[in-house]
Amino acid sequence: MAYFCQECGYKSLKWLGRCPECGSWNTLVEEKESLIKSKNKLKQETKEIKILKLSDIRYEEKPRILTGISEFDLVLGGGIVPGSFILIGGDPGIGKSTLLTQVAGILAEKGLKVVYLSAEESAEQVKLRVERLGLGAKVFFVGDNNLSAVIEELKTLKPDLLIVDSIQTVFLPELESPPGGVSQIRECANVLMRFAKEQGVITIVVGHITKGGIIAGPKVLEHLVDVVLYLEGEKETGFRLLRAVKNRFGPVNEIGVFLMTSKGLAPHAQYEDLFLSGEENAAIFCVIEGTRPLLVEVQSLVAKSFLAVPRRTAVGFDPIRLSLLVAILEKKFHFNFTNQDIYVKVSGGLKITDPSADMAVAVSLVSSLLEKPLPPKTLFIGEVGLSGEIRPVRDIVLRLKEAEKKGIKKAFVPERIDLSNHSLSLEIFPCKRLIEVCEKLFR
Ligand code: TYD
Ligand code: MG
Repeated sequence: MAYFCQECGYKSLKWLGRCPECGSWNTLVEEKESLIKSKNKLKQETKEIKILKLSDIRYEEKPRILTGISEFDLVLGGGIVPGSFILIGGDPGIGKSTLLTQVAGILAEKGLKVVYLSAEESAEQVKLRVERLGLGAKVFFVGDNNLSAVIEELKTLKPDLLIVDSIQTVFLPELESPPGGVSQIRECANVLMRFAKEQGVITIVVGHITKGGIIAGPKVLEHLVDVVLYLEGEKETGFRLLRAVKNRFGPVNEIGVFLMTSKGLAPHAQYEDLFLSGEENAAIFCVIEGTRPLLVEVQSLVAKSFLAVPRRTAVGFDPIRLSLLVAILEKKFHFNFTNQDIYVKVSGGLKITDPSADMAVAVSLVSSLLEKPLPPKTLFIGEVGLSGEIRPVRDIVLRLKEAEKKGIKKAFVPERIDLSNHSLSLEIFPCKRLIEVCEKLFR
């Protein structure tokens, strides 16, 4: 027996309150170690080993499979690579089953043999969803959660695409640990992986993530699979973002934007209105998500605090970066944020990690502190250094072009960027220090 962290799979011989590997609390659960009783595993290990030279390896490049769901194909880097193993994670109820039902239905229509393994929903529920989504019901369905038995059956059926919904609910009877535990999840994934690679089956696996860490997070699987997608979003708004956080066949951090409709998830190409509101105290900046530039807005609220320790709250932005920016504004430029609560919010449920957002956050803070509006249709791009200098960021031309396309008229950018070869109609203000930006805006 040993204790396993349900988030990351860390193993410990004694119980610990906090996982030393991933830092999550109360996630260590006692489990039997995964000893597979059957002899199959041993047989496999005695297989003859071949050592090859790369130049001797022949392969034919198979074309990628397009689902026709434009944003889904884009996030994968241009369609599904045959034989790939894809993990899709997300909170319960966010729309993973919906998206995969659409993918299954469309690809079955195109003539692929698709198997939908669902241990969560009954055959009727899945059929109802397929019909509601207006898809033909050519998909095969398995409702059994005994993975060993299912795999045996699938060896004769030979599907082209296998969808497993979800990895937390299937189990291997050979293992003694309970379904949903880390050992089960890891072994199930290994079994699926072996099946997928041996038979050349595209496999898409759903993994639930829960904040309480009760069901094992798909973190333990991330290193194993080819592609990791996350479906996220604010449930109330109906917008969903699909993000590739790992992709062996394409760019990472590519995002796709969907709208949840009564006919399932619809690609939402006009995503710009999702992130821009046009409020006068909102600062616009441009992040690069994967290969795609996105205009995003940040709003700040600075209000007199009645607390002993004023609040510093950030939604969609790193709170540590926020504290840094406030410290820089106070120390270097003598803006006074003492006794002020600070709230910062990035639009559209996006989580920004791109340092180029610094300038926009800083000006929106100052704008709210001084109660002076920001000029409309103005872009702010630049990282802010600790002495208040504006630092250059990558792909500035791409960002400016995107802004121009979306009707932005002015842009505050770092100094010493060369735009001579690009015809941009934007009015550009190169700035060396943050204070120059503030002086131009709030004088
Ligand atoms: P689901 O795909 O079951 O979520 P997950 O598999 O990630 O747990 O999605 C559930 C939600 O989606 C549910 O609240 C109903 C909604 N939904 C629609 O709005 N339109 C649809 O066409 C479908 C199938 C679901
Ligand atoms: Mg589901």
